[in-house]
Amino acid sequence: MRDPAVLLHVNGVEATYQNAIVALHNVNLTVQRGEVHALLGANGAGKSSTLKAISNLLVLERGQVTAGTIRFDGHDVARTTPAQLVRLGLVQVLEGRRCFPNLSIEANLVTGALGRSASRAETAVDLERVYAIFPRLKARRRVAAGLTSGGEQQMAAIGRALMSRPRLLVLDEPSMGLAPLVVQDIFARLRQLNREDGLSILVAEQNSTVALQYADRATVLEAGVTVLNDTAKALRQREDIQHFYFGRDVAHQAPALA
Ligand SMILES: Nc1ncnc2c1ncn2[C@@H]1O[C@H](COP(=O)(O)OP(=O)(O)O)[C@@H](O)[C@H]1O
Ligand SMILES: [Mg+2]
Repeated sequence: MRDPAVLLHVNGVEATYQNAIVALHNVNLTVQRGEVHALLGANGAGKSSTLKAISNLLVLERGQVTAGTIRFDGHDVARTTPAQLVRLGLVQVLEGRRCFPNLSIEANLVTGALGRSASRAETAVDLERVYAIFPRLKARRRVAAGLTSGGEQQMAAIGRALMSRPRLLVLDEPSMGLAPLVVQDIFARLRQLNREDGLSILVAEQNSTVALQYADRATVLEAGVTVLNDTAKALRQREDIQHFYFGRDVAHQAPALA
């Protein structure tokens, strides 16, 4: 049965690269409409692989889903091209905030509107919304993206994704390489988009502290397996989470789940 409150459902997913390396063993993840959902785990836990599976992008890295199902808003992702998924509203900001370095910030943002062949008027409205969320981008609109700071490039990558009018915005480690204050600002803006526009967000993060501060619920991966799924509030109260799943101790055996 389909639950209309569920926007994304990942069920029992196993994925491999080059028919040999098993990256995901059993990933289970549900994003409800209107929530901010964090996908947490140490380096190598399978966060990026899960996000690529969700956007049907594994094939680009000679990977594939070998078991389980992924449904976005009722659509079987395995039977939907990445471009179709974007048009359906599943839009991903890939790791490393890839901007076109020689294009201005504004031109980078406008590229996000191309996929859905937006009219000039629509593009103008959407640009103003992006600038309202990220005033820094408005101030830097004419500057080549390659000359802006890491934080501004991350904002531009998010802004470009917003220009394709997502219903589920997927982000891979937006905090990576950014100063703590910039990270806080970006997460606060994501929260604002969620509250004001009802945008659903799935964000993969190694930085569980900041992600749990802004998320409604979270899923924790360890070595390609979903090991926890709970409200962010409940997870914030469990100090062992940080220790067992994200700290330097991740190489040790995780405890049995209560
Ligand atoms: N393109 C790839 N080819 C082969 N193995 C990969 C590839 N990308 C990731 N992996 C492997 O898959 C596992 C999960 O990696 P990844 O999904 O990048 O984790 P995370 O994003 O949580 O750091 C790791 O063991 C990693 O080495
Ligand atoms: Mg990753």
